[in-house]
Amino acid sequence: MSKSGFKDVEFDKSKPEAQRPLGSVNTPPDSPKRKHRPMELPLHKASDHGSIGHRRRTSWGELEGSLTIPVSPGSHNTIEVPSLRSPDADSTQFMHNLSATPSMRERRVSRNSFGASLPIPKSKRQSRLSSVVYPEGEGAKAGLPMSATRDILTAQAQDVHSEKVQAAKNMAFVFDIDGVLVHGDRLIPQGKATLDMLNGDNQLGIKIPHIFLTNGSGKPELARVEQLSKILHNPISTDQFIQSHTPMRALAEYYSTVLVVGGEGYRCREVAEEYGFKDIVVPNDIVAWDPTIAPYRVFTDAERATSRPRDFTKMNIEAILVFSDSRDYATDMQIIMDLLRSERGRLGTTAADPVSQRIPIYFSQGDLLCPTEHPTPRMSQGAFRIGLEAMYKALTGEELERVVYGKPELATYKYADEVIASWMDELHGEERVPANVYMIGDNPASDIIGGNMYGWNTCLVRTGVFQGGDNDEENPANFGVFTNVWDAVTAACRKELGDDFGFKWDARKMNPVLHDSHAASAVEV
Ligand code: G3P
Ligand code: MG
Repeated sequence: MSKSGFKDVEFDKSKPEAQRPLGSVNTPPDSPKRKHRPMELPLHKASDHGSIGHRRRTSWGELEGSLTIPVSPGSHNTIEVPSLRSPDADSTQFMHNLSATPSMRERRVSRNSFGASLPIPKSKRQSRLSSVVYPEGEGAKAGLPMSATRDILTAQAQDVHSEKVQAAKNMAFVFDIDGVLVHGDRLIPQGKATLDMLNGDNQLGIKIPHIFLTNGSGKPELARVEQLSKILHNPISTDQFIQSHTPMRALAEYYSTVLVVGGEGYRCREVAEEYGFKDIVVPNDIVAWDPTIAPYRVFTDAERATSRPRDFTKMNIEAILVFSDSRDYATDMQIIMDLLRSERGRLGTTAADPVSQRIPIYFSQGDLLCPTEHPTPRMSQGAFRIGLEAMYKALTGEELERVVYGKPELATYKYADEVIASWMDELHGEERVPANVYMIGDNPASDIIGGNMYGWNTCLVRTGVFQGGDNDEENPANFGVFTNVWDAVTAACRKELGDDFGFKWDARKMNPVLHDSHAASAVEV
């Protein structure tokens, strides 16, 4: 694995947190990036909150800074993963030079050098709503074994081809969703055929492990897999599904009162409740309390009736979590900015020092654009964040430090490893990550760069964001570029399982009765 890769930042989970390396995941010791300023901006004093601390020893043995993440006094079911992104705002590069003083420009040295640590759950087995969702009215179809007879036949097939079986258990697929399997609510036809095949409609009747890793967001995991299983006509479990905010459930150990932003209606409040956050505020609660806070908002009676106003001058919001795309930029940006400039998250106050008293802000993913039904891609959370960063800089003169989850962050890929291992356990009784993992994605800047850095095989498909030539120039897929997901997956299977691997279950090949007499109707398959 190259020095720039994720694999270089493995750490020993058994060591005390303070001894683990943090930062400089892609920066050699003598790189100019090492001049990155240590940040002197603790969000909480260690003595106040039992903070993990602001400066830590990096893998290179030097002290570096990061956004402070306060430690909750209770049990710790989380691990922290160093961020690939600098915690500094991205907006500076988009702003006119005059907007930054020379001293501020000096403070910003590099992008993507290192940043804060991102807590993720230690184990994915924390979901209280773990379940498999079958496509409506299709029961156990979709390539799954349907009967005792078929079970016997697949067992026979697998006995005969034991080497192929081992190889099939030693590979796994990680699917991006939008642009690979679906476009919004629209099926990409090869997506269904691919999942049918991986769910057992293949020569061995074997389930080839696969999980879903999307930067999508905005509703609880169960609701999203229900929707996807319907579109893809295949069963999907919450235990094989990661959306951008899924690993952010770890933050419930760190913060009690949070502002949750984005998504339709109150779906993201539901998400936060399901993740275990104790006290969840959404922008509507604040607008209902004081409509003048958002002067351009037309607040309906229905919205007022469903909100939960209280006196926000008497409580502190501890962190801002942008879970999904904002449905009302003006209101959300105003409220976020008010909170970022307040004294430790108390509305109605303005901090004397906007930096040391600032509460942290987290984004579930960083995609600038997202393909939709519209002819050209639409702005996504990354664009919203950059807008906020620029506003914050213009209003305070300071860079906004922030944490961004989602692909291609290391934390997200580490979490994916946990999910792959436990899904392997579920399917084949072996809790481990197979040696040959294939990421299938449409976005070179997210799926492919992340997969490459994590040491996975990467396949770029032409059904989504990527519309280029032979391969992406900046982040080429290492296994190749394919017309669609079926072509990518079958190429990977041929490599791992042999050119003769059959992509269709054929009972007649295994059943002597059917094989010899063609008495198909006499045998249940
Ligand atoms: O950018 C937002 C999201 O819709 C992307 O989803 O599945 O392509 O990671 P996905
Ligand atoms: Mg995609």
